[in-house]
Amino acid sequence: MDQIVNVDEFQELAKQALPKMYYDFYNGGAEDQHTLNENVQAFRRIMFRPRVLVDVSKIDMSTKILGYPISAPIMIAPTGNHKLAHPEGETATAKAAAACNTIMIVSYMSSCTFEEIASSCNAVRFLQIYVYKRRDITAQVVKRAEKAGFKAIVLTVDVPRLGRREADIKNKMISPQLKNFEGLFSTEVRPSKGSGVQAFASRAFDASFSWKDIEWLRSITELPILVKGILTREDALKAVEAGVDGIIVSNHGGRQLDYSPATITVLEEVVQVVRGRIPVLLDGGVRRGTDVFKALALGAQAVLIGRPIIYGLAAKGEDGVKKVIDMLKNEFEITMALSGCPTIDDITRNHVRTENERL
Ligand code: FNR
Repeated sequence: MDQIVNVDEFQELAKQALPKMYYDFYNGGAEDQHTLNENVQAFRRIMFRPRVLVDVSKIDMSTKILGYPISAPIMIAPTGNHKLAHPEGETATAKAAAACNTIMIVSYMSSCTFEEIASSCNAVRFLQIYVYKRRDITAQVVKRAEKAGFKAIVLTVDVPRLGRREADIKNKMISPQLKNFEGLFSTEVRPSKGSGVQAFASRAFDASFSWKDIEWLRSITELPILVKGILTREDALKAVEAGVDGIIVSNHGGRQLDYSPATITVLEEVVQVVRGRIPVLLDGGVRRGTDVFKALALGAQAVLIGRPIIYGLAAKGEDGVKKVIDMLKNEFEITMALSGCPTIDDITRNHVRTENERL
């Protein structure tokens, strides 16, 4: 483990550890995978404007999200089916979240039950949901997560249909039975052709869900609601008007609409219209502590990490996830020090230069 020094190296180990079908499922994006690649590349086009001769002998990375303290602005994004990566599934990821003192957003498509995840650790957990055509099932699952101590609902809004992920189509990716829906309806699809995940999504997901239905979600839960999958100022404003408690700028890790912009390139337009009324988080392509810093400088309160968590889990289980988060935290801490920012509040827009800005 000491030999692993960055996220890319975990990706390589995950590739060796996983059957091709699962590695492709975790790693892949939609169609040309342009957005998938741009998410990473766009971060690389942002440079720093570091400040020197600031007292950085102590660095404090801690922050709060919806009032919950976390050790650094790095959270775990919702990703489905962790048992395909490791036999302990989401319970291993949750234990790592607790050890690193961060928040885990548990996927609606998780392979362990909410109760199993809750009893395995005391990490703060949010529940990500999709809305099913059978709304009664979604309502029951939200209630169950509330009882299991989940602290917020993250409504993912970029999947009225599943994106075309060509590797899953070729591999005839099987969609496994999801534990949290047992006894409610069958989630398993074993297709004779194409992607089982896609087949399941078109059978189950409600493509008619729209802004007015946020009221329905409000009516079934007292928990704060964040919307995940916002990429424009127009939709950011609609989200604020709908009274949600937070926005996650996301293109689903390039798995949905290919040629959606890299998230880091649209963060500022969202932040500008939200005007601090609710927190704005970002995910997509965060692979380095420097990326975390760039997202904060452009106005995010925190970032979520998707694939790197799965790489850590597949390669080394709970310890692998811990190591991924610790590496990112370590990189972020050094970036803060070398940029002259001892606390999160010290990170400002002036600490970065985007590709559109002249020197
Ligand atoms: C996801 N993502 C996702 N999002 C969501 O809201 N619900 C889900 O069940 C899933 N499942 C899922 C599975 C896998 C394998 C991946 C890679 C992604 C999207 C995820 O939350 C996040 O938006 C992206 O993964 C962020 O991009 P990076 O960090 O993977 O580049």
